[in-house]
Amino acid sequence: MTLAPLTASLPASAPWKTDGPRVVAQAFPYQGSKRILASKILSLFPAQGISRLIEPFAGSAAISVAARHYDLASTVHISDVNAPLIALWDRIIEDPNELISTYTQMWNDQLDDPRSFYLKTREEFNASKKPELLLYLLCRCVKAAVRYSKSGDFNQGADHRRLGARPANIAERITSASKLMKTATTSTESYVGPLTGASRDEVVYMDPPYQGTSDVPDHRYLTGLQRAPFSEALQTAVDNNVSFIVSYDVVTDDNKYGMALPSELGLLHKHVSAGVSSQATLQGKKQVTVESLYISPALVERLGGASEIDKRLDLYP
Ligand SMILES: C[S@@+](CC[C@H](N)C(=O)[O-])C[C@H]1O[C@@H](n2cnc3c(N)ncnc32)[C@H](O)[C@@H]1O
Repeated sequence: MTLAPLTASLPASAPWKTDGPRVVAQAFPYQGSKRILASKILSLFPAQGISRLIEPFAGSAAISVAARHYDLASTVHISDVNAPLIALWDRIIEDPNELISTYTQMWNDQLDDPRSFYLKTREEFNASKKPELLLYLLCRCVKAAVRYSKSGDFNQGADHRRLGARPANIAERITSASKLMKTATTSTESYVGPLTGASRDEVVYMDPPYQGTSDVPDHRYLTGLQRAPFSEALQTAVDNNVSFIVSYDVVTDDNKYGMALPSELGLLHKHVSAGVSSQATLQGKKQVTVESLYISPALVERLGGASEIDKRLDLYP
């Protein structure tokens, strides 16, 4: 295996900057997907590409899929503690056609009575945890947002204005994601192992659950994320010279919230714009969403220093 060079100059061209977020297929809808920010995050990859991208809070794995689409990572490892979600990824990777045909069947079967079909499917999913049922629920539920009860049951309601992505659309998205993720590996382990065990020529990208829902029992993503053990794991990764990027917290221009990661970690902290908040627009306000990115010292060094990173983030803003 060849090691990525320690310093890498700016990419001569960066198609991920100009193509726009919709060019890369999203296998399934998922609230919190990082599609919009993909171009900024991909700017922080060594220009020559990396041997493996590790994404421990994978969800719909927007960054891994985009990195594969632009050939910036030879392969990826995705993990998430939501086991049915990882089982869904396994199906996408190993047997996309079967998954597409089940979705098509379910989508058509719902047409007589979409409301009761959704409720019946949700009940069935809570009993069986079958990934093909999760795919249907994600396509039909409000804001593609998973919600769980205290006992771990999926309890999000259906969006009654929509029937979910049409089968032809899902077929295209899953086929395309499956091809890109063909060599990907998956696991349901928590983030610590994948983060701290990464080797020097790999990059770890993390998008943990947002603060505010994180130090409390989290109904959004099955489990919350506690800041102290997370900071400890980041310290171990820094000590191990792991190249990592963390998306941590969202700040809006008139409503700041969330605590920064401890400065003792020595991470480079950058604010990047994630565009106008669609949630605020719906409420008649114009609000720019700014997100924090933290970059590990090993990656800063690998990219040629902090000023080089500023150039990369500012290129084609
Ligand atoms: C904000 S979402 C990630 C969204 C992702 N960036 C995307 O593109 O779809 C956070 C994810 O972290 C997962 N998660 C929560 N706690 C975790 C943990 N301790 N270890 C690994 N994954 C975890 C949740 O199940 C959820 O899917």
